Amino acid sequence: MEKLEQLYEGKAKKVFKTDNPNEFIIEYKDDATAFNGEKKGSIVGKGVINNKMTELVFNMLEEKGIPTHFIKLLSDSEQLVKAVTIFPLEVIIRNTAAGSVCKRLGLEEGLKLKTPIFEFCYKNDAFGDPMINDSHIIAMELATADEIETIRDMTYKINDILKPYFFEKGINLIDFKIEFGKTNDGQIVLADEISPDTCRFWDVKTNEKLDKDRFRRDLGNVEGAYVEMLKRVQS
Ligand code: C5P
Repeated sequence: MEKLEQLYEGKAKKVFKTDNPNEFIIEYKDDATAFNGEKKGSIVGKGVINNKMTELVFNMLEEKGIPTHFIKLLSDSEQLVKAVTIFPLEVIIRNTAAGSVCKRLGLEEGLKLKTPIFEFCYKNDAFGDPMINDSHIIAMELATADEIETIRDMTYKINDILKPYFFEKGINLIDFKIEFGKTNDGQIVLADEISPDTCRFWDVKTNEKLDKDRFRRDLGNVEGAYVEMLKRVQS
């Protein structure tokens, strides 16, 4: 399998074509951005950690019946995935209030939500990834009603698997963002990554933040938090 031209460069990853039309290579970068690109920096070792953590979590999810784009690791910072067309949607689940929901609705950070909150955002940097609902998605032809139903069902299932998985490792899964893609043969699969860049992870005992909020909010020991999270997932 040969790595061919770059298809896309995002804030944290690059995607390359391969000589197989059904497979892409994803390269994870150390670059970090926050607040829709307003804050830029680098987290040493992040690419390697997020690549490895995504491998472990996606393999676990596959074993539990969630189809994903992941095929195999190729190197410390590269993985082979199924070629997919990404739905331009950020799919968010919140178990505990933190981040933008606190600003938007005046909820106190750390408030345990009676039921998980499910949100769709339109993945579009120029408009700051605004929150949208099913009606926008269908009207704008971002996905069909059936595809929305599949994505919503899979997302709740993923939350039901991830919450106890991380809790066993001493981590409260506060919230997370995932993305979905469609393979060349039309299957909807979990794509992108699951890592401290895309989830909020709090230590069960101390509530210490072990995720990208350390970078966003200048809390210090950013690299240490990523290293600790990989250790927990490997345990
Ligand atoms: O910022 P907000 O509170 O809306 O983020 C909710 C969750 O989605 C957090 O875990 C955050 O890391 C993740 N997220 C993301 N990429 C974005 C926006 C949010 O991974 N562009």
